[in-house]
Order: sequence, then structure tokens, then C-alpha cells
Amino acid sequence: MTSADNSASNRYEFGANWASFIDRHYSIERRRVAGDKLLSFLGKESLEGMDFLDIGSGSGLHSLAAFDAKAERIHSFDFDPLSVRTTGKLRHLAGEPPNWTVERGDVLDVDYLEKLGTWSLVYSWGVLHHTGAMWQAIENAAHRVAPGGLFFIALYSSNVVKPSAQFWLDVKRRYNAAGPSKRRWMEYWYIWRFRLGRNPFRLPSLVKQVYEKKKGRGMSYMTDVRDWLGGWPMEFAEDQAVVDFLKERFDFELVRMSTGEACTEFLFRNANKPQSNPN
Ligand SMILES: C[S@@+](CC[C@H](N)C(=O)[O-])C[C@H]1O[C@@H](n2cnc3c(N)ncnc32)[C@H](O)[C@@H]1O
Repeated sequence: MTSADNSASNRYEFGANWASFIDRHYSIERRRVAGDKLLSFLGKESLEGMDFLDIGSGSGLHSLAAFDAKAERIHSFDFDPLSVRTTGKLRHLAGEPPNWTVERGDVLDVDYLEKLGTWSLVYSWGVLHHTGAMWQAIENAAHRVAPGGLFFIALYSSNVVKPSAQFWLDVKRRYNAAGPSKRRWMEYWYIWRFRLGRNPFRLPSLVKQVYEKKKGRGMSYMTDVRDWLGGWPMEFAEDQAVVDFLKERFDFELVRMSTGEACTEFLFRNANKPQSNPN
């Protein structure tokens, strides 16, 4: 594991990035793609009979996908008020369903989490490594998974990061300290160096990546670039360490794992049996 200085005092403004993503890029197609991706990783055709806790909902697109997939109850929360507002916008678009609640909340606030009870599906994609206390956040989130329930998380992986975790932690520190024009310049620098590999002939493959980003989880290329360069605080986790931690601490079994360019997605099942009703 590689840690940043866990200071959350100069957090990246995720919410502004998500608000602009939804204002500029929301579409029925992205909504459908997000739903397809969610269900395919879960290996399900719908979320009927399940409830969905979205920790760090960001844009809210994945809560909306859970709504479309017929989850019985949805609760979305995020630390950033603008993420909360943007998720609320999508809830509004869904017709303000009474079985979907959205509010501000902190995954590091144990009292808040305890009030939420347990859920048959706890989802937290790209969030827990941005809290400043990743292992505590993983533990807090895992406590919300009902016996027999599923835990779908994505974390920055130290197994795949190049050139090194330290390199990116330094870049992120500089990005967050920069003003708007320097940030824009750093976004172009990142694309030129890491996406094009300093080779203009790779432009067609960049265009393909932009398109595939949309196909991946319904996200937008530039929103993800800003999220990657800005996302702070931030830590990396070693894939096997996550699997071992959840097995030893919670008896969660790994159902599947998918390693991407930066994040590894994990699906765990809480192997503890649901308690049978004595009546
Ligand atoms: C990279 S975004 C991911 C958003 C969304 N889950 C997705 O997959 O698109 C990370 C989100 O986590 C939220 N976040 C960061 N720290 C948090 C905390 N302590 N509690 C709840 N949410 C947090 C951020 O505000 C941001 O919206």
C-alpha cells in the first residue's frame, strides 16, 4: 500500500466535476451503459429484491442505474454537497421516487453509517481511496453489507500504477495547487505524455479511448482525466491486500475481480449466513 499524507484539508472539488459532467454529458445512452455495466459485473439481469447503498455517489449515474435495474430501495450519499445536489438532480429526473433517498454523508462517520443499517448491495466505486483513511473507509463500508449481501468496490491499484504511485501523488499535489489555466495545461500534458505516449500518430487510438470511456461505465473522458489528476486525498491499495483484509476481518469471499488501467473492481459476498427469522 502507498499512502498520501492523509490530509483531507485540501480536498479536490469532485462535486464541481460531477455537476459539469451531468450538465454537459448526461444522456439516455450513458444511463443505459451505466446500468449494463453495473449488472454485468454483478452477473445479474436486474436488482429486483435487492437494496442499493451508494457510498460516494458522485454524479449519481450509478444510483440511477440501480433505480433503472429495479432496486427496491436506494440510498445515495456523498461528502461533497455538489455531488449530493447532482445526484438529487438525477433522482428528480427519475420522478423523485420515494424509495430513493439522497443526502450528504461521510463514510468515515461511524455514527451516521450505523443509522443506515445493512444493505444487500453496497456499492462504492472509486471513493474509499479518496477519503484520507482508506482502510478505515473500507471497514466502515463493509459493515453496511448484510449477511449474504454483496460488496462492489473499486480502488486505485498499486499493482498496475505506472511509473509509480509516488509520481502520481506528486502530480496530484501540483494539480490541486494550480489555478485553472495551469490545470488545463496539465490535462493536455497528461494526455500527450500518457495517453498519446508523445506520439501524434496515436491520435486515432485516443479517439477510440474517448469513445470506449463512454461505453465503459457511461463516463466522460475529460471528466475522468480531471478526476484522475485532481482526486485528493488519495491512496493506492495492493489487490491481494484488499482480498485478504476483507476475508480476515469480515469473512467476505471474492466473487470476481477486474483490473483496469488504474482501478481494480472487486465483488465480494458476505459469507455470513442471513439469520433465520425465529417466527
Ligand atoms: C471519483 S468520485 C466517484 C463517484 C462515483 N462513485 C462514480 O463511480 O462515478 C469519488 C466521490 O467520492 C466522494 N467522497 C470522497 N470522500 C468521501 C467520504 N469521506 N464520504 C463520502 N463520499 C466521499 C467524492 O465527493 C466524490 O464524489
